[in-house]
Amino acid sequence: MKVLVTGGAGYIGSHTVLTLKSAGYDVLIYDNFSNSSQAVLERLEELSGEAIPFVEGDIRDQERLDDLFQQHSIDSVIHFAGLKAVGESVLKPIEYYDNNVSGTVTLLKAMKKAGVKNIVFSSSATVYGSNNQVPFTEGMPTSATNPYGYSKVMIEQILSDVAKSDPEWTITLLRYFNPIGAHKSGRIGELPNGVPNNLMPYITQVAVGKLDHLRVFGNDYDTVDGTGVRDYIHVLDLARGHVKALQKNAAVKGVKTYNLGTGEGVSVLQLVQAFEKYNDIKIPYEIVERRDGDIATCYASCEKAQRELGFTTEESLKDMVVDSWRWQKQNPKGYEQ
Ligand code: NAD
Ligand code: UFG
Repeated sequence: MKVLVTGGAGYIGSHTVLTLKSAGYDVLIYDNFSNSSQAVLERLEELSGEAIPFVEGDIRDQERLDDLFQQHSIDSVIHFAGLKAVGESVLKPIEYYDNNVSGTVTLLKAMKKAGVKNIVFSSSATVYGSNNQVPFTEGMPTSATNPYGYSKVMIEQILSDVAKSDPEWTITLLRYFNPIGAHKSGRIGELPNGVPNNLMPYITQVAVGKLDHLRVFGNDYDTVDGTGVRDYIHVLDLARGHVKALQKNAAVKGVKTYNLGTGEGVSVLQLVQAFEKYNDIKIPYEIVERRDGDIATCYASCEKAQRELGFTTEESLKDMVVDSWRWQKQNPKGYEQ
């Protein structure tokens, strides 16, 4: 079974490629390297023991995609390719809608033309918006507060409409909570562009001395210690979730939506404390104003993924902080040596 992995050179995609290979799938990466390095391909070869086929290209390039589907016999697509920075999406909405929404539509056109009607899509907990009560369950109404979030809400809608229009499609929407961690080897991991927006890469860059101290965005939320609570999930567990989704896709037609999280809420200060304890490093921090658009608490109900996909997480919070640090410490310059 051959799986086309769009965005397969990125953070979640690269880990999923390895998990797919271990599960016996053939993989083809399609990526324009707009937010990743070609060097990841060497690391993937090193870790999997064989070169991973890849095609450099953009999901908005219809011709290239048509050629790709003609030249390769693809059974399923896992669609990671997209832009993901919330703040940047507010400044560049046209680029975000073009890349994420138009790109997905172009990919779907190519898939339809080629008769490939299996897709797993990277959605996000961001689609739960700011009006739902935790734990978030898949049937809750979706909404967004920024172009990135709207692009995910729109793509979910598009994919649901496609499934309704033609019962041959099997579509899985995976709503990731907060992915952190890295491969146990320390050879692949998250590569933020510039100063990180997300908490874990910010912490690891403070730990490695690239950044001076962490700024904690608010300690007056209605949470255990006043700081924001999130559901952190190890990227290796997330990768396993995709294999489960593919196996399910093979059996069930129509559109299915699953949360991928642990179901556990962890506050900013709890994550900092876990990082300090398990890595034996101090993370200096100061409390600053809340960040615009943040919600107090976000965690998943994992029941549906457990019941229907047989998905449960295996990695602990300790694994997450230790593996994140190993990656950062071994690769202070990312993939460049
Ligand atoms: P990433 O930026 O590391 O990976 C995305 C990959 O897609 C990159 O390699 C990039 O070069 C590629 N890409 C982007 N636009 C492309 C295009 N037009 N054509 C071809 N390739 C393109 O991001 P990630 O963290 O691995 O996220 C993967 C997916 O998961 C994204 O869709 C993201 O929105 C979603 N997601 C991520 C998170 C998170 O916190 N990391 C949370 C929820 C959902
Ligand atoms: N935080 C800080 N300081 C920082 C960075 C983050 O205190 O320097 C806090 C935030 O306020 C929040 C928590 O750490 O309380 C987590 O923040 P992240 O930016 O790591 O993650 P978010 O939950 O805000 O956003 C992430 C992804 C989004 C996605 C969302 C829901 O970045 O793309 O999860 O899935 F939409």
